[in-house]
Amino acid sequence: PAVAVIVVAAGSGTRLGGDIPKAFREVAGVPILEHALRGVFGMRREAQVIVVAPEAFRGDAELILGHAAGDAAEYASVVTGGATRQASVAAGIAVLADSVRIVLVHDAARALTPSTQFDDVVDSVAAGGRGIVPGLAVADTIKRVDDEERIVETVDRDELRAMQTPQGFPRHALAQGYADAEEEYTDDAALFAATGGSVAVIPGDARAFKITTPWDLNRAEHLLRPEGG
Ligand code: CTP
Ligand code: MG
Repeated sequence: PAVAVIVVAAGSGTRLGGDIPKAFREVAGVPILEHALRGVFGMRREAQVIVVAPEAFRGDAELILGHAAGDAAEYASVVTGGATRQASVAAGIAVLADSVRIVLVHDAARALTPSTQFDDVVDSVAAGGRGIVPGLAVADTIKRVDDEERIVETVDRDELRAMQTPQGFPRHALAQGYADAEEEYTDDAALFAATGGSVAVIPGDARAFKITTPWDLNRAEHLLRPEGG
């Protein structure tokens, strides 16, 4: 395939709590990773799908991936992640198929991301040849504070976007960026930009929120109820 999706699921989920890694926790009876993979396998284009999992959960990840992939299992695989998200993405980059030209990096924790968001990111990378990140306008008023929590200024909201995934990049530039990176970046777009790449934002989707805290897990449960509310 010309497209690959690296689904990073190797984090522990400290902020969510619980005894097992976040991606393997269930929402509406289905593991978070499986929800995320339903979005991935709903893409229009065929893609290589690489799940990055904690070493102790590789077997679980393989079962979930096999289940979600169905006929598309030929280009699906699981690799072991690293201590940081960046190391986990690097583990995925290491096993990209030779044919891949566009790479999407997706947080398994964004379990309800619609397939259209993956398609939109691929289309935009293909059209522009640069990095593409879905983002949402920021609803709250944002203030900058000092170390004593005193308000210093209001940040102009029109200039802000909250970043989501999948973040998409031309394959060779991303691989080069990862090879050159000498520090930890907050996301793939930051790493890509720091190593000389240009990145643009396209509209994201509220359903692509990241399950981070118990409150988020609750929200996902509610959204998946039959009545949808
Ligand atoms: N991730 C990963 N490898 C890591 C850390 C994070 O693959 N070493 C993945 C997570 O599994 C998640 C995504 O990166 O799908 C976004 O990270 P985050 O929401 O911060 O997940 P965790 O790091 O697991 O959670 P926490 O920060 O609360 O521990
Ligand atoms: Mg984390």
